[in-house]
Amino acid sequence: MSYPQPKPGVLKIARYIQGQSEIEGVENPIKLSSNESSAGPSPAAVTAYQRAGQQLNRYPDGAQTCLRNAIAEVYNLDAERIICGNGSDELLALFLRAYAGVGDQVLLSENGFIMCRIHAIGQGSEVVVAPEQDYLVDVDALLERVSDKTRVVIIANPNNPTGTYLPGGELKRLHAGLPKDVLFIIDGAYAEYVMRDDYEDGLALVDRFENIVVTRTFSKIYGLPSLRIGWAYCPEKVVDAVQRIRTPFNTNGPALAAAAAAVKDTAYTKHVCEQNAHWLGRIASHLSELGLFVVPSVTNFYLIRFPGSHNKTAQGAAAYLQKRGIIPRPVGGEGDNHLRITVGSSSENEAVLQALTEYMQS
Ligand SMILES: Cc1ncc(COP(=O)(O)O)c(C=O)c1O
Repeated sequence: MSYPQPKPGVLKIARYIQGQSEIEGVENPIKLSSNESSAGPSPAAVTAYQRAGQQLNRYPDGAQTCLRNAIAEVYNLDAERIICGNGSDELLALFLRAYAGVGDQVLLSENGFIMCRIHAIGQGSEVVVAPEQDYLVDVDALLERVSDKTRVVIIANPNNPTGTYLPGGELKRLHAGLPKDVLFIIDGAYAEYVMRDDYEDGLALVDRFENIVVTRTFSKIYGLPSLRIGWAYCPEKVVDAVQRIRTPFNTNGPALAAAAAAVKDTAYTKHVCEQNAHWLGRIASHLSELGLFVVPSVTNFYLIRFPGSHNKTAQGAAAYLQKRGIIPRPVGGEGDNHLRITVGSSSENEAVLQALTEYMQS
């Protein structure tokens, strides 16, 4: 039988599985599976969203001027080189559509955002994966895998699900080792949470080099994942290419308005960041006392390694947490002894610590 065939690669893709959001029989579970902000967005963002909701009969501003200007002002960037997307996910897809195709290689680190792999395969490109060492992106492993077919290299910094980061020196060493015609994408979905002096978010590097792009999102610290807004800071020539394939109304009016208000509320962002850091520290020391290894995180989530001995496994802990109405994110396959958990509100974090204490002592 003859029937339409998808492009090469499409049927090789395993579908994306969203973080679990429900537990049967539990009315309001504590959802800590998708690295969302328990604080939610700035109240100013909600007000802007509601106001924009009164103009749903109008097309949004396809040039995204208001949001690009707000981001440029807060981050001290050139507004002309900012592109907004339907989540940073869409921007990653646009970069791959513009720069990678059949026969090309896209080089990824072992961890990072799973959709990069899906978008690259969907383009018909070959995905090459560099292993990580001690939960860290391995610069040498990436550089060893660069070939004359490599078109795009993507790392998440900080990384997911490890929560770790590559210091500025290492980031620059990676970039310096890449050919100038390879697009280097730094996915900074969790950048706003990082409070380390040796962290380099890459935005300043975009001003200096023609082949670096940084992506960011309103889904994490800004608490607006439902509105699907991400942004990218790019060299001029990359903006020119990607603007040609971006659909003109990829970001909707209320979402643009809410994101602009959110980014301008810098006091609120600072407060969310400080609360997160406070809880990260408390959680890590409590869990270490229980004999668990917590990968040092600079994000709004943490990865726990279970010993595996005495029946103390990630799977067992996940089941124990679920019975108490808490949803963590198992990572890796069956038998992997890691659980990723989002930093929640104070009461949510207390509930996690209490449950894990009981589990480890049971
Ligand atoms: C590392 C990383 N990059 C990118 C994203 C995509 O975020 P969004 O499409 O909501 O902007 C996520 C989402 O969880 C992520 O963890």
